[in-house]
Amino acid sequence: MAEIVLGFGTAHGPLLSTPPEKWDLRAEADKKNPNHAFRGGTYNYDELLKLRKAENLSEQNVISVRVERHGRCQKQLDYLTEKLAATKPDVILLVGDDQREWFMEDIQPAFSIYYGDEVINTAYDEEKALSMAPGLAYSMRATHPPKAQIYPCEAELAGRIIEQAIEDEFDISASKSPPVGPKGPKGIGHAVGFVYRRLLNDKPIPLVPVLINTFFPPNQAKPKRCYEFGLMIGRAIKNWDSDKKVAVCASGGVSHFVIDEEFDHRILNAMQEGDFQTMFDEPNSMFRSGTSETKNWIVTAGILAETGFKMNLLDYVPCYRSDAGTGNAMAFATWAQE
Ligand SMILES: [Fe+2]
Repeated sequence: MAEIVLGFGTAHGPLLSTPPEKWDLRAEADKKNPNHAFRGGTYNYDELLKLRKAENLSEQNVISVRVERHGRCQKQLDYLTEKLAATKPDVILLVGDDQREWFMEDIQPAFSIYYGDEVINTAYDEEKALSMAPGLAYSMRATHPPKAQIYPCEAELAGRIIEQAIEDEFDISASKSPPVGPKGPKGIGHAVGFVYRRLLNDKPIPLVPVLINTFFPPNQAKPKRCYEFGLMIGRAIKNWDSDKKVAVCASGGVSHFVIDEEFDHRILNAMQEGDFQTMFDEPNSMFRSGTSETKNWIVTAGILAETGFKMNLLDYVPCYRSDAGTGNAMAFATWAQE
């Protein structure tokens, strides 16, 4: 039977791929954003600055701290790269969110499993990158290869997960080919692109993309449902009649683009302790904007729940890019046999 050999979680935010002295490009955009999501409320930059004044976040938004934190993130990304190379999984099941990359307003699946034979990571497009918000060209360069790459997919396992889902009364979406846009089949999104570029150097370990709508109202699943969805995938892997070794990846999170260290610690601690009720008690209003990607970790924790693996938080790094607390808190973890 198939075996889960490793679980791992990695943030994938733009600051990981942006030199610390350039984080201000994104901070400038934050100042113009009237809708920052933070603990159930929505604030403009000045309101956020006032709200968080007592935290003295400006002390953490200086170049020396940014450089140290960026370095800590790179260290963990390098560690995960080595860990994957040493583990040599046959398949990576990657839990990520679709951020209007494949799915748009016309069809927005809450949970979808891709069971086609391959996906494309489209080439870096300089013209598109320069037309985007300031600073985002760095992350686009990190998630897109110089030339389009084909990543093979493990369609058999994806098919087993779909069967298991229907058996277990999860009426999920199933996708066999990428949606087609004006330039042809759409490229797979940043949640996969970042991991395949940064951790696998485009080495095409067959993939099962599990795409969750964490970001966009109105159909984001609640934390408990995400966990149960993960349990179902865990059963499907366990029942897969194959000798393949499977790694499971949570891509994204934790709190951003307003950092909430309390929230992150509450969730990450609960995950380490197997205290799932604490996660289930968090309302959906806490999982908005990029912070919503933390649900990818909850799904992953569900998948790994019956392996007996222990979660090891490698590092938690709050990368502040403004005095108002905007930025991206990064988490890196593995789940493995003790
Ligand atoms: Fe993301």
